[in-house]
Formats: sequence, structure tokens, C-alpha cells
Amino acid sequence: MKVTVDALPNPCFVADGRGITRYVNHEAQKVYGDVKPGGPLSFSLRAPSLLEAFDRVCETGLPEQINWIEKVPTETWYEAHVAPIFMPGSLSSDQRGGQPDFILVVIQDQTENRRLERMRSDFVANASHELRTPLASLTGFIETIQGAARNDPEARDRFLSIMQEQAERMRRLIDDILSLSRIELKAHVRPAGVVDLKEVVRHTADALAPLAADLDVEIRVEVPDRPVKLQGDRDELIQVAENLVENALKYGKDGKFVDVTLTELVETPELPQWQLSVRDYGEGIASEHLPRLTERFYRVSDDSRQVMKGTGLGLAIVKHILARHQGKLDIESEPGKGAAFKVSLPAEDIAEAILNKVPS
Ligand SMILES: Nc1ncnc2c1ncn2[C@@H]1O[C@H](COP(=O)(O)OP(=O)(O)OP(=O)(O)O)[C@@H](O)[C@H]1O
Ligand SMILES: [Mg+2]
Repeated sequence: MKVTVDALPNPCFVADGRGITRYVNHEAQKVYGDVKPGGPLSFSLRAPSLLEAFDRVCETGLPEQINWIEKVPTETWYEAHVAPIFMPGSLSSDQRGGQPDFILVVIQDQTENRRLERMRSDFVANASHELRTPLASLTGFIETIQGAARNDPEARDRFLSIMQEQAERMRRLIDDILSLSRIELKAHVRPAGVVDLKEVVRHTADALAPLAADLDVEIRVEVPDRPVKLQGDRDELIQVAENLVENALKYGKDGKFVDVTLTELVETPELPQWQLSVRDYGEGIASEHLPRLTERFYRVSDDSRQVMKGTGLGLAIVKHILARHQGKLDIESEPGKGAAFKVSLPAEDIAEAILNKVPS
């Protein structure tokens, strides 16, 4: 039994029917300090609901599962399985009035799972809320066109164009949500293609040239002469660059210029990196917002920007794509002077990366 309990990845305690600890596995010793068998179980495990469950299992011989929260030092959610053990050869539970020979307590820290669950349900709540707003506006205009504006062609046209904008917004939201969940699905798989980052930058500048012209902003591109190839997914890296350049154009348009530069970082020669930097000279972002920008649906609220209202998912998508590429995003901004979004990606030897992919 000791060997089995030691092989379990969770803290486990084995106690007898009197509540005396008889064995603790390695994991329990790691988590609960140097617990010595021979003392009462309640010296190591103090949660009242766990000890009550233990007493019940001693009495009934039936297993139980319980959950509790500990608030100090940080909020931690626990789940414990309290299982009776009847030794082979000993009297069966019926004959002994249900009292087990030993009781096994297996403890699991559920905090991370709870956090993920909460994130998931927050995401669904936020997504529905974001979709409901344009939908309510569409429904409202449909009613107006059917009623008051029925015989007013001018008003009808105006309302129809607002409706088109709202429908477009819903489409973007749905595209972004799907894109995020697709990337999340393959979060732990490193992309296997070879991407030319210079081409990604050029493609992005071309794709966003019409928006830049509309906003009267000039995109200035600076790339090195030599090829910039790395291991990655072309479409996803284009999505990263487009999101950043589109943000710089939309939110930094007052600065009139957006600089997109590609440089090699050789600060740590053993870890060469390519850096894609997108800098604008607009109003910038106050420092309290910086750490939250990559959260889903997070937008810097400011009424003057409502015209350009985005979904708040762009940078969350960027962050996820970069995680897959083992890259990272740094954001610097001085309010009033603009913002710089810097993406670093590992610049390892591509020849080696490709060789590694060739099946042996
Ligand atoms: N270059 C920038 N200058 C100032 N604020 C910025 C800049 N880039 C992003 N922001 C702020 O960060 C917020 C989050 O950006 P993000 O790209 O995640 O979402 P979005 O642009 O609102 O929506 P989407 O990208 O899906 O259209 C933006 O709403 C904006 O308030
Ligand atoms: Mg954006």
C-alpha cells in the first residue's frame, strides 16, 4: 500500500480508525512539511469539513468527496477524497459494523481548475454581452423602419447603413471569437512552417494601406537587407502584425506616422531574437492600462474613441499566437507621445529546425 500511495501525484494520508496518521506519501511531506506518522491526523489537516468527513467515513465505511476553500495566505480551493480501506482477510464491512481498517485521504488543489472555469464562464458572459449590443441596435432599427420611418426614404437609408455597420461588427466579433478558440486548441503545438518575416511585414503594410490612406496616416517600413526567416505559421504572424498595425493606425492616427521595423536583437547571443516593432505617435496609453491590454474584451474606455470601437480581442489573439511561437509582446507607452508594441520571436537556425522535421 505504501508503494502505491507514494506513486500518486497528490498528497495522501493514511490514518487508522482512531484518527492517527499511519503513513504520508512523498507529495504530502513536500506540501505539508515534515509530517511524522504516529500523531493525530488533525495536526496536519485542520479543515473542519475534512475532519468531519473523516469521522463519517470511520463510522459508515462509505467513501466521501468534499470541497473547501482556504482564504489564508491566498484563496485556495481544495478537493479531498476520503476512502475507507478494508484489509484483505479482515472481517468484511458488514460484519464489523462498517468500520474500515484504514482511511485514505487524497487531497487535490483545485485552484487552477476553478480559475480556468471562472475565466471560461466570464468569457461566455462577455461574448454574449458584446454580441447583444449590436443585436439590440439591429432589432431597434428594424422596428423603426417598419414603423415610424416606413415612408421616409432618407431616414431609412441612414438607418440601413447603421444596421450594416452593426452587422459588420457582429461578424468581426464572431470571427475573433472563433479565431481565439482555434488558436487555443493548438496552444501547445509549435507551428512547423518556415515564415519570411519581411514578407509578413510587407503584406501587412499593403493590406492596411487603404485604412492608412483613409485615416491620413503614413506607414513607414524598415526591414534588414538579409532574409528574415523563422519557424512559424505565416497566417498567424500576419494576424499579429495586422492587429498591431491596425491598432497603431486607429488609436494613434493623430501622430500621422506609424513605424514598422524589423531588427535582430543580439543582446543575448545564445538566444538571438527577431524583433518586430510597431510604433505610433498618437495619444498613447496610460500606464495603468498596459498590463490589462491583452485581456479578452479589454478596451481603454474613452468616449472619443467610440467611433473606432473594436472588439477588444485583437491583442488577446496576438498574445496567444505569440505564446505558440515562443515569442513575447512588450508594450511601452508615454501618454501624449504614442505607443510601441514590440514582438520578439526566437531567431534560431532554420536549417536545423527544418532538419528536425524530416522524418528519420
Ligand atoms: N496603439 C495604440 N494606442 C492607443 N491605444 C491602443 C493601441 N493599441 C491598442 N490600444 C487600446 O487597447 C485596446 C485593446 O486593443 P485590441 O486590439 O485588443 O482590441 P480592439 O482594437 O479594441 O479590437 P479589435 O482589435 O478586435 O478590433 C484598444 O481598445 C485600445 O483602447
Ligand atoms: Mg485591435
